[in-house]
Amino acid sequence: MSNEHNIKTVGVIGAGQMGGGIAQVSAVAGFSTVVFDSFPKSLEKCKADHEKRLARDVEKGKLTAEAKAAALGRLQYVSQFPDPFAKCDIVIEAVVEDAAIKRDMFKTLAEMFAKIPGRQILASNTSSISITEIAAACRGIKGDHVEATGQVIGMHFFNPVPIMKLVEVIKGLSTTPETTQRVIALAKAMGKEPLAANDRPGFVSNRVLMPMINEAFYALMEGVAGPEEIDGIMKLGCNFPMGPLNLADFIGLDTCVHIMNVLADGLNNDRYRACPLLKQYVTAGRLGVKSGQGVFMYNK
Ligand code: CAA
Repeated sequence: MSNEHNIKTVGVIGAGQMGGGIAQVSAVAGFSTVVFDSFPKSLEKCKADHEKRLARDVEKGKLTAEAKAAALGRLQYVSQFPDPFAKCDIVIEAVVEDAAIKRDMFKTLAEMFAKIPGRQILASNTSSISITEIAAACRGIKGDHVEATGQVIGMHFFNPVPIMKLVEVIKGLSTTPETTQRVIALAKAMGKEPLAANDRPGFVSNRVLMPMINEAFYALMEGVAGPEEIDGIMKLGCNFPMGPLNLADFIGLDTCVHIMNVLADGLNNDRYRACPLLKQYVTAGRLGVKSGQGVFMYNK
């Protein structure tokens, strides 16, 4: 393993679907991994999911029983913040898409790391919030002769994390080339394919994906075709692994509305406004797979 990243221990904030997936990939790749969540139930579920998924990988012959045991041995589940992260070389945050919460956490971590030798990286898995805005919370905090803002970066993983190859690496305005290079090397060491983009609303992935999903909702609302037909046409005609409406359910319809709002505000253009039908589903509590119903029905 190249150690251009100079990282041995990875911290993950948030034991949900994304954080849990990131922690799993990190531990399997050989990094000591600390997962934090303030909800004990989320930590328990995350641990059980790791055991279940890695056991399935052993059954499929993707992983040896020894490698599974070693990966599980590298995982530590904690409910205190920020002290257990003191030993980490990078912390990857994967909590709710709320800029104030993220800024607060990054500031706390930057203040802690300023007192510890090393150039610890602060990464966010955000899919829509500006990295420059999160980094601004660390202005004026200096450690190891560098300002913490230079160590802040986006590491946008995709769901399901163990399967999806891409890490969209987002360079904030102050992110240093050294931080970017280390994160690219880390993503590669995790078996991912990192691709860098600049810090603009929606980055590349959601700038392109979300308007397409939104358009699928307009097509549904206008009766262009039924949901099965819209998804079927895109699957069979464009080789998508899942149709845009099913993918929206998978991502979460509330998340889709949130990202459309980020695009509309950030790019200051009405063409990014969320489709009324998409918003209506969210109002009705039809959030997609996680609530049991979105466009389609799911077994919870
Ligand atoms: N966690 C871990 N592994 C999973 C999984 C999960 N939640 N869901 C499926 N898998 C694995 C399966 O175990 C299976 O593994 P093997 O090949 O080793 O057997 C593999 O994925 C394929 O699964 P299935 O055969 O059951 O089903 P499938 O062929 O339909 O694949 C899928 C499922 C991988 C989810 C596929 O439908 C797909 O690629 N969909 C598109 C996913 C996508 O676009 N994700 C990006 C969402 S956008 C995002 O995350 C970012 C954002 O900012 C909004």
